[in-house]
Amino acid sequence: MRGVKERITARRTYGRGAPGNCFAWPPTATVAETEQSGIALAPTTSVRELKKRVHGLKKSLHPDRQALRLELKGRTLKEDESLKSLGLKSGSKLYVKDLGPQIGWKTVFLVEYAGPLLLYLCMYRRPWLFYGEGASSVPIHHAVHIAAGCWTLHYAKRLLETLFVHRFSHATMPIFNLFKNCSYYWLFTLYIAYHINHPLFTAPGSIQVYGSLTAFLLCELGNLSIHIALRNLRPPGTTVRKMPVATLNPFTSLFNLVSCPNYTYEFGSWLAFSVMTQCLPAGLFALAGMYQMTIWALGKHRAYKKEFLSYPRSRKAIVPFLL
Ligand SMILES: NC(=O)c1ccc[n+]([C@@H]2O[C@H](COP(=O)([O-])OP(=O)(O)OC[C@H]3O[C@@H](n4cnc5c(N)ncnc54)[C@H](OP(=O)(O)O)[C@@H]3O)[C@@H](O)[C@H]2O)c1
Repeated sequence: MRGVKERITARRTYGRGAPGNCFAWPPTATVAETEQSGIALAPTTSVRELKKRVHGLKKSLHPDRQALRLELKGRTLKEDESLKSLGLKSGSKLYVKDLGPQIGWKTVFLVEYAGPLLLYLCMYRRPWLFYGEGASSVPIHHAVHIAAGCWTLHYAKRLLETLFVHRFSHATMPIFNLFKNCSYYWLFTLYIAYHINHPLFTAPGSIQVYGSLTAFLLCELGNLSIHIALRNLRPPGTTVRKMPVATLNPFTSLFNLVSCPNYTYEFGSWLAFSVMTQCLPAGLFALAGMYQMTIWALGKHRAYKKEFLSYPRSRKAIVPFLL
């Protein structure tokens, strides 16, 4: 470091995931080398700034589509880490991974949640295309109306949370996620809505319907409460990640038992919805969501334990006392 401007030289060409995409960082680079690379760095230079410099060198590599790593398969460096804090020495290499074309994080969520809302409501009208002529005139059981209300509430809530509650740390994600996520949510919606709104649908008894409805509403409230608690952990405009703890809201006391109670509540909602409708496709959707959320929760749980030394050892990832 020694207070001199450090230099890095671009060693290789760029390309998606190619092993040679690295920068070396010799602190004693000559002027000729610097001119060759076009990048000059100080020890305090952040990863965010470095990405901008790489973008300056290669216009197709917008900062949002870069992941910088110390090792080829290592962790992606955080935006606010500095070259000094990363312990880079003369000759160190930084790998630049091209994450591919990006799309706004919020856009993906809005599109993937708007689809289930609209598709379900279309099916609720029993279109002739799916059910044949005259299906819309067959009487609709009150459980079907309740299911449509629950579905609408859930996805309207998610859309509003995306717009007004979540403080995301990423601005963009790979565009492929749009197709992957939309396929998952939209196709499952059609599969579930087709069965529940079918003229031959047989509803369970009132106790089962109203008991499950109560459980569904409580889980939705719990999920919203956790999202608000997570939002309040992060000051506006930052990507700070704090240790989550229970607040005065009783729904957040689930933080005492698991690291990701929003996922626990989400699964609870879909389990309740499945019992309420006695619909197998809804049960499959609940299980598929639980599987994905368990993988994410285990990852987040491990990261919390590593990052916060005082992290409560008795907490589980997603299922209290078990998982
Ligand atoms: N049915 C399904 O299949 C399914 C699957 C997944 C999710 N979901 C639903 O979608 C919701 C959102 O999912 P998600 O995976 O985005 O949830 P998440 O990772 O828990 O994040 C929710 C928001 O809180 C922020 N956050 C999380 N932990 C934080 C911390 N320790 N400090 C500060 N901010 C923190 C996140 O920021 P970052 O941007 O930094 O992560 C994000 O903006 C879930 O709660 C669930 O209701 C449903």
